[in-house]
Amino acid sequence: MNKREFLKATTLLGAGAAVPGIAAGDTATPPAVPPLGNLLDANFTSDSGRRFGSQAIHHGEQKGFQVTPISQDKAVPGYQRPGNLNNPTVAPLLGKIMELEGTPAAAGGSCGMDIISQTYMALLKPGDRMVAHRCNYDWVMTLFRDHLPEWGVEVRFVDMNDPANLAESLKARPAKFVHFEPYVNPTMEVLDTPALIKVAKDAGASVVVDNTWLTPYLLQPFRLGADLVIHSVTKYIGGHGNAMGGVVSGRKELVDRISHAQNWLGGLLRPMDAFLVTQGVKTLPLRMRHHCRSARMVAAFLQSHAAVARVRYGGLPSWNPQAETGALKGFGGMLGIEWKSDAVHHGLGRHVKLMVNQTSLGDPVTRVMQRQEDNATGVPARYTRVSIGLEEPEDVMADFEQAIAQCR
Ligand SMILES: Cc1ncc(COP(=O)(O)O)c(C=O)c1O
Repeated sequence: MNKREFLKATTLLGAGAAVPGIAAGDTATPPAVPPLGNLLDANFTSDSGRRFGSQAIHHGEQKGFQVTPISQDKAVPGYQRPGNLNNPTVAPLLGKIMELEGTPAAAGGSCGMDIISQTYMALLKPGDRMVAHRCNYDWVMTLFRDHLPEWGVEVRFVDMNDPANLAESLKARPAKFVHFEPYVNPTMEVLDTPALIKVAKDAGASVVVDNTWLTPYLLQPFRLGADLVIHSVTKYIGGHGNAMGGVVSGRKELVDRISHAQNWLGGLLRPMDAFLVTQGVKTLPLRMRHHCRSARMVAAFLQSHAAVARVRYGGLPSWNPQAETGALKGFGGMLGIEWKSDAVHHGLGRHVKLMVNQTSLGDPVTRVMQRQEDNATGVPARYTRVSIGLEEPEDVMADFEQAIAQCR
């Protein structure tokens, strides 16, 4: 089947058509194109009554501009607090994120890790306790495992796949904060966000959700009761891999304390980055739809490949039994592959041609990244994390096919 026939059969415009074969080989059963349905627009409540995609484009732009200009001026009249977050280019981006997440306040930092560190440096003090899922983004684990304890903060890791584990930990000793990623980096565990928020709130803890991977297009934790929602806008929100930034939004009294701490911490979201991220966020719904559908197709393809033991993708019922029925109808572009052999696990990165063997995620480029087994965090043996980009899924599948073939 050539590319034109493939596209006709799968048609990214239509839903549910079966894909009879791909050009590069027949080792795996090609997947059906997942139906898009109305995805998560239905989840979005806007105070303006407009839909998510329209607000992502229009909300917050400076009056008189469709493209808010870059202002490097650190002391524009009306934007007091020199050097801080009221810069006329940064403020519209924060406004957009507040609108999309449904949050009343936001603060921006220079990258995702910056805003996470600032959040906890501003809000925790020695003697405080927090509870986190057993697995988070690597450098968040470093912060929680190595640094917060050095500053006198107790961090307890629990397996939040069962919300009862969180309840038990909070019952044993209350905590100030509960932190988790709803779709976990890199294990692809799908946590029950509403249940975890309820358990935490019942026990008097504030909830911080890192929503970097799902974005407000797929999940809006503040509307479910979370207190703070964090984004590395370097990833899907910006979406083009050309800017870095981090945003925390949520309850005003907490965000105000973080913003105030930025006066002594520094580490601000810069106008040039905010400008680029603002252009990116306008196409967030379009990109997330493509990531969701493409990743679902590639996941199904890999799941039936002879070299693969198991694929971890939130949209695959074989990995996530709630894939079709749960509150989340989309899981973005992140998936994990458990290989049958060490040869493929170690060799894949050397043989990919279209995909890039590199860390980072959430932009147009598909990337593979070999991971080490780690029992404590639940990372399995012979595991590769994949960020499915915005290329055509048939080309990504063909690249997997040829790279796997060369590893044997
Ligand atoms: C879930 C999650 N949170 C936070 C970060 C940190 O973001 P940044 O690279 O902008 O510091 C990452 C980076 O990959 C991430 O995956």
